[in-house]
Amino acid sequence: MIDAYQSQCQARVDDALAALFAAPLPQLQRLYQAMRYSVINGGKRVRPLLVYAACEALGGNASRANAAACAVELIHAYSLVHDDLPAMDDDDLRRGQPTTHIAFDEACAILAGDGLQTLAFEVLADARHNPLDAEVRLRMLSCLTRAAGPAGMVGGQAIDLGSVGCKLDQAALELMHRHKTGALIEASVTLGALASGLADEPALQALQRYAQAIGLAFQVQDDILDVESDTATLGKTQGKDSANHKPTYPALLGLPAAKSYALELRDQAIAALSPLGESAEPLRALARFIVARNS
Ligand code: IPE
Ligand code: IPE
Ligand code: MG
Ligand code: MG
Ligand code: MG
Repeated sequence: MIDAYQSQCQARVDDALAALFAAPLPQLQRLYQAMRYSVINGGKRVRPLLVYAACEALGGNASRANAAACAVELIHAYSLVHDDLPAMDDDDLRRGQPTTHIAFDEACAILAGDGLQTLAFEVLADARHNPLDAEVRLRMLSCLTRAAGPAGMVGGQAIDLGSVGCKLDQAALELMHRHKTGALIEASVTLGALASGLADEPALQALQRYAQAIGLAFQVQDDILDVESDTATLGKTQGKDSANHKPTYPALLGLPAAKSYALELRDQAIAALSPLGESAEPLRALARFIVARNS
């Protein structure tokens, strides 16, 4: 079921994303090419999937969530372009291709990241992309800016870079992961709920508990895969966390305990959805996918 649902949502968001990269001026060809290169390259699209699944869990039509699905993927893609830069994780492979600063150059990768980030907010704010009520669009913008910014993902990346070579305890590691990865995953679920136009407070709270658990599980699994997967499957260089002296869950707890923790978080996420019925099945399947994936 998840496979069919996943392909359908991937196709939906990929179509909407592909329409965003026509350069408005010949002088901007290279910038737009670098932006397109960083997005249209076979990502799993987990965050857009969460947007659609949360919207549909509350009875909303997925078409209402296209702008939000694009916006979270644009923010995610920008975060990867900057995360891979020499000044950060210094990676040369992403989604099975040379990273943006290798395929283009560093200055172009920085600007492509900046462009993707600001384009995300344009897509969410502009009624031509996001034809929902102005008040809903403002709530969406406020949710995504907070999650992407210094109190969310950017803050998490700062904690990550400040923790190189440090031995964090579990609480500190959890704080880092919740910021650098959890925040955008939580925002994806909330944006989907807002897009449905049918979110009430109890549903939002259930979805938030779900999203907090899978947000953390996602990064725990990412850390696990860095240890035990391989470069070809991952599409990014395996073993970079230990090479870069990053604190991770497997480094702190050992691989078996990190894996049981990921499964425990998956179960917590699924339990949080109990007030929602059958319509939340794609969200449950996504929770299972996040900890079972091998890339
Ligand atoms: C990788 O994210 C970076 C993290 C936040 C852990 P994904 O595993 O979602 O990467 P893509 O989008 O599928 O390439
Ligand atoms: C990245 O975490 C989180 C972001 C906000 C981009 P990682 O540095 O672990 O992501 P990968 O392993 O390079 O994809
Ligand atoms: Mg990183
Ligand atoms: Mg990295
Ligand atoms: Mg990683």
